[in-house]
Amino acid sequence: MNKFQVVFQPGDVNIEVGKGTTIMEAMNEAGLEADFPCGGRGKCGKCRVRLMTGIGKPTAVEEETLNIKELEGGIRLACMTEVNDHIVVELLEHNKLEHNILVASEERAGKIQPHLNKVFIEVDKASMQDHRSDWSRVKDSLNKTVRHLGEVKVPVSILRQLPDTIREAKHKLTAVLYDSKVLGVEQGDTTATMLGMAFDIGTTTIVGYLLDLYTGKELSVVSTLNPQTKFGADVISRITFSNQEKDGLAKLHKEVIEAINKLIGEAMEKAGISRSDIYGVSIAANTTMHHLFLGITPRNIAVSPYVSSITEAVAVSPSELEIQINQAGKIFVLPNIAGFVGADTTAVLLATELDRSEDVKLIIDIGTNGEIALGSNKKIVACSAAAGPAFEGAQISSGMRGAAGAIDHVYFTDRLEYSVIGGGSPQGIAGSALLDAVAGLVELGIIDKRGKFLSPDKLTSPALQGFKNNIIQYEGAGAFLLADSDNTSHGRPIMITQKDIRELQLAKGAMAAGVKVLMETYGIQVEDIEEVLLAGAFGNYLNPHSACVIGLIPRELEGKIKMIGNAAGTGSKLALLSAEEFKRADDIAASVEFVELGSYPKFNSIFAENMYFKQNG
Ligand code: FES
Repeated sequence: MNKFQVVFQPGDVNIEVGKGTTIMEAMNEAGLEADFPCGGRGKCGKCRVRLMTGIGKPTAVEEETLNIKELEGGIRLACMTEVNDHIVVELLEHNKLEHNILVASEERAGKIQPHLNKVFIEVDKASMQDHRSDWSRVKDSLNKTVRHLGEVKVPVSILRQLPDTIREAKHKLTAVLYDSKVLGVEQGDTTATMLGMAFDIGTTTIVGYLLDLYTGKELSVVSTLNPQTKFGADVISRITFSNQEKDGLAKLHKEVIEAINKLIGEAMEKAGISRSDIYGVSIAANTTMHHLFLGITPRNIAVSPYVSSITEAVAVSPSELEIQINQAGKIFVLPNIAGFVGADTTAVLLATELDRSEDVKLIIDIGTNGEIALGSNKKIVACSAAAGPAFEGAQISSGMRGAAGAIDHVYFTDRLEYSVIGGGSPQGIAGSALLDAVAGLVELGIIDKRGKFLSPDKLTSPALQGFKNNIIQYEGAGAFLLADSDNTSHGRPIMITQKDIRELQLAKGAMAAGVKVLMETYGIQVEDIEEVLLAGAFGNYLNPHSACVIGLIPRELEGKIKMIGNAAGTGSKLALLSAEEFKRADDIAASVEFVELGSYPKFNSIFAENMYFKQNG
């Protein structure tokens, strides 16, 4: 027998798969949204499921990753275990994705200047005296209605519809114009409605805003996990997948297009409108997501000298990308700056108007690849810091993304306290809490400036009394216990290990070195920076004090930090609502001076220096 039944519980989701299919593949096929942070390579151990029947021998990777109690209890890695029998699989808490997706942002007013122009015309009827062709009569009516239209162009696809449309509409038509090109001809007067969707495609999440293109009013907001996540958590694993897997690029492209179409459907339903009312879509995304959206290989982004295939803004017809909106519409893709500083950064710069600021501002979007921009109306310099996945919880022993069950903040009062997203017992620690915890360990002097746990005999200060029981030994080194096994949802302790601190040092060192290099390139000192704007999901949830204590952001800037939320989404909206803003995005992207950290002369020493913690005083 080559086919087996897999039943996922809870929910009784049933799927038949071929022998040898992994449970991860079966989950994907069954449409169960789940997180596979390492892309299913058996590296992160985060895809644990429980086999309720058909428990077979664990693989070598599972034996290494899971403890005996887990193995005996039927816990396996979904990406490693193959289906060779009919089985029932229990999905555990962490398999369910309930991400806190950041949709809010600081808004800024922008001029509304629609990209498309809808024009109602009454076309003269043909007669024995008027032999003008259908198209000539449409063109003449348009020229009479719109001043300075110039030579009107029309694609053959519209000409094919024209004879029927004119007559069925009794010569009353609405033409959809993009400059002087007719993109669509609709029956009757449809000028009252013109909607659009602005998207921010992140590596982890996708957010879409449905807007009225005449008034700018937001009609609904929708979001989802980026379905490409199942092929890898970060851009590098997606690039690897697109390169090495058969049809990898096509698969990733299809996933994102399907997600966009699904979100358009959801937004439409929420607002009670139809797809044909949507005429514009704007896209802000990092360079890899941008390329995958357009179906362009991101291959060269991952290899030195890390170039993208295109940086300029592009306007594409919906049919080219199979985006399901009114086919007379357009897709506006914002411009990239460099291989690792993408259109999402351009959108943030557009939203914050850094190019028009008298004051020097520092803009940081913290992530696996943190983007940093520093500038004013004089000039803007930007770089990408390879921080690695620590801020997003990957490669941290108890790390997880900021989803339900994650400890999101840690407080050191006279004892240890923490908050859990969604309440209840925690199942892991989010990056924001990792920052709080390590900041607390630095402030209390539990770890030294190198990040090393001090030996217990040195921890004599009275301030440490409330935390004595939390300071433990793990794998021959110090560790800090946040929740013991009785107080977690999975019965395993949640702690910060020496290795976790090391990972955080690498991440914060990279970001802080990026800031330092940009200051040097710009030729300013830290006190010249008037404001620090934290963009993106991670920046929105972190505690600025913790970020400054660990040295992710210079301590001198603590009082100048402002969270700006999903500024990339705001930039995407501005570009959708205004042709001028879309054009300005191109000018901004072209004017940014990109600094490649890897080739900056003193980068390695700046990086090493910034891995240290600065003790108080
Ligand atoms: S170990 Fe399975 S997804 Fe990472």
